[in-house]
Order: sequence, then structure tokens, then C-alpha cells
Amino acid sequence: MNVIFKIWRQEHAAVEGYFKTYEVDGLTEDMSFLEALDHLNETLVLINEKVIAFESDCREGICGQCGVFINGRAHGPHQHITTCQLHMRSFKDGDTIVVEPWRAEAFPIVKDLVVDRSAFDRIIQQGAYITAKTGTAPEAYAIPISKEISERAMDVAACIGCGACVAACKNASAALFTSAKINHLNQLPQGRPEEHSRLLDMVAQMELENFGSCTFTAACEVECPAEISINSIAEMNARYIKAKLFG
Ligand code: FES
Repeated sequence: MNVIFKIWRQEHAAVEGYFKTYEVDGLTEDMSFLEALDHLNETLVLINEKVIAFESDCREGICGQCGVFINGRAHGPHQHITTCQLHMRSFKDGDTIVVEPWRAEAFPIVKDLVVDRSAFDRIIQQGAYITAKTGTAPEAYAIPISKEISERAMDVAACIGCGACVAACKNASAALFTSAKINHLNQLPQGRPEEHSRLLDMVAQMELENFGSCTFTAACEVECPAEISINSIAEMNARYIKAKLFG
């Protein structure tokens, strides 16, 4: 299988980037997209060209490291998967595949396809924790939680922080990510002591990080590998008003 990759090359954030074209052969349709990039990098090593920088860790859709824009879509042509879960069989022999990093002011480019997503870490630091006494682990059934509540919490806990929601959004909003992290803990009894401060502090940090505002286009929901619904954003907004009034 042969494809033409047009890949964004940029040495670092302070210099201009550009697309470079690579004709790649010897691929198979069973290769993952990242394996195809590995294959390209191996050929670049042989001709003494700098390899293309991209991130990955688990390569199983768990860690959220690998996101890139492929042919104008976050994580490529399919909904609800990560880049590492994409296979070359999704493309045709001879296709041109354009690969870019996430584009958002809050995600500055580190190199080539790698962006700095530490803005997400700083949002999490503002409230994605609970107060718990140290010592022996408490009895698992000491705090009863209904099936409905635990499932709703797990639905949003599935967020892997990949950044596709920001990249897909025309406003580069981080509302889906932030709401998932808030709603995960705020609906569980263990998260109640910091319920209001968590919400206010995490939203304030999101605004400090230069993400755009959410205008409910739902582009984030379409691309989210964890299938997190924009209902999570509506819930965050409703809880925000309550926190402002009673926090
Ligand atoms: S490498 Fe971990 S989600 Fe893709």
C-alpha cells in the first residue's frame, strides 16, 4: 500500500511551520496509523533526515497521548476513536493524507505534531481530587451509591484528556473536558465537600488558559473517543449557577 503523507513540520513554537510531502510505500492496510508514521520515520533515519515528532504511549486508546488532526478531523475519519486506534485500511492506496497537530492557542506546538497540553493538567490541579482521611482504606460499602449515579459518574470519568474536543471546536473550547472532570466527582458523595470550589476553581482556570467559549456546536461530542455527551457541559453550567449562588 502506498500513500502520500503531507505532514506538518515545525522545529519549535518560535519558528514557522510548513507542510512537507512524503511518498511512503511498503505499508499494509493492517498497520495502525501510528505504525505507518513509525515506518516513515525509519525511512527518514536511513536518509539522515530528522524524524517526525509525535506522541504515543499505550497505543490502545487509553492514555490520550496520540491525538493529531488527519485530513481535517481530530483523530481521523472515524468518530469516537483515538489516532492509535485508526488503521491504514481506512484509506485507499494512493491517498494523500494531511497530518497536523492540534490547533489551539492553549496548546502551543512543541515540535512537529506534538503540542503542550499542560493547560489540561493545570485545570485538573484546581479540583480533580477529594478530601479523604489517611489511614486504612474504608469499607467499600460504607457509602452507598446508586447504580444510576455511579454509571453517570463513570460515563464522564471515561475522559482520557486527549484534547480532541478542543481541536474539533471552532472556538477551541475546553468545556467538554472540564465538565467531564467536574461532573465525575461532583455527583459522587465523596466529591461533595469540594463541590462548589471544585467547579468555580476549575472553570476559572479553564478561562485563564485561553480556551475559547462554548457555543454548543457539538463538534466535540462527535470526535470524543470516550463518547462524552455535551449534556455534561449543560450540567456543568447548571451547577455553576448553583455554585455561584450558594458556594
Ligand atoms: S497512544 Fe494512548 S490513546 Fe493513543
